[in-house]
Amino acid sequence: MNKEIKLVDLKPQYEEIKEELWKEWEKIFDTMHLMLGPNMKAFEKEFAEYSGAKYGIGVDSGTAALFLALKSMGINENHAVIAPSFTFFATIEAIIQTGAHPVLIDIEEKDYNISPSKIVEYIEKNTDFDGKNLIDKKSKKTIKAIIPVHLYGTPAEMDKIKDISNKYNLLILEDCAQAHGAEFRGEKVGSLGDAAAFSFYFSKNLSALGEAGIILTNNEEIREKASMLRVHGQKDKYTHQFIGYNSRLDEIQAAVLRLKLRKLEDWNQRRIKLAELYNKKLKDFPILTPDFFTHKKSVFHLYVIRTEKRDELKDFLSKNGIGTGIHYPIPSHLQPALKYLNYKKGELPVSEKIADEILTLPMYPHLKEEDIEYIADKIIEFFKL
Ligand SMILES: Cc1ncc(COP(=O)(O)O)c(C=O)c1O
Repeated sequence: MNKEIKLVDLKPQYEEIKEELWKEWEKIFDTMHLMLGPNMKAFEKEFAEYSGAKYGIGVDSGTAALFLALKSMGINENHAVIAPSFTFFATIEAIIQTGAHPVLIDIEEKDYNISPSKIVEYIEKNTDFDGKNLIDKKSKKTIKAIIPVHLYGTPAEMDKIKDISNKYNLLILEDCAQAHGAEFRGEKVGSLGDAAAFSFYFSKNLSALGEAGIILTNNEEIREKASMLRVHGQKDKYTHQFIGYNSRLDEIQAAVLRLKLRKLEDWNQRRIKLAELYNKKLKDFPILTPDFFTHKKSVFHLYVIRTEKRDELKDFLSKNGIGTGIHYPIPSHLQPALKYLNYKKGELPVSEKIADEILTLPMYPHLKEEDIEYIADKIIEFFKL
């Protein structure tokens, strides 16, 4: 008989915190302190501490966290920002929403993250550097920042990216939307650049029961600017220092996040164990499984394999009751919305090849080992057919 295994099943997470959650929610509803209240403030502190950063600024999504962090770092229409093409589109949207120009760079095959050597190649071919400002010859704008995305939960090569940022005077905004608790050389992501943006979208490793996000930073100026930008540019109630946004993290979500944060290490550890099991089961087949690295810890937000027979395998698994996904089928430089940037097919070949071959298999902390056995058996069956 066929099993049914979803790509993600979040109900068991809710079951684990249900009893405490309803008590916390009741307190919120009893006081009707729904915004900018004690849960948000406590969560900001707890999550910043967990990630090794000084300050947390709770906002209403990961996209808002990216956008408001860029604004708080002073990014505007005079600037360009380097980012990987192969990411969820929100990374690039946030750059464009500030008025800045996105410089899209190809990725490394080994971890699907932005390639430091390709950043250097771009800089050497396409920019002028006067010792202070790095001018992009294509857009005529000053390249001001790099956004490394820790895709699928695996940290980007941060020491090489820091070397580039030091050499060319660039800020770093980490996109940690998929990497809560991941580590690079023993340090948690979120504390490795000038600022970091996290999403708590419902499927993330640490997730709200709705929309939420946070900015982390060690920089007092960025903290102050971001805290004001999320609430209409105000420092004191009804005094607006500049034009801002409505992007607050609400108390109902903050209460969920506080409870789930206590489970995050355990849930991440379970993901790692499940990824190890997948790798072991799938090692003798014409599939590329994700690498484990000695200098960085992935938290396997997604478990992604590669095969040239991706579409057939996806179909076969679906017929056998197994949910899969493709994260992401079109790299940003080929998205219709970015046609005006004039990227050509073939320009960022690794991103394009990966997009055609990747397949995301079920992964969530409560996935059972026997489910992985079943999925692996079905994959083996597919390749033996
Ligand atoms: C890499 C990446 N960046 C940014 C985001 C945006 O986060 P959100 O959906 O919370 O706005 C996401 C999540 O979907 C993501 O995966």
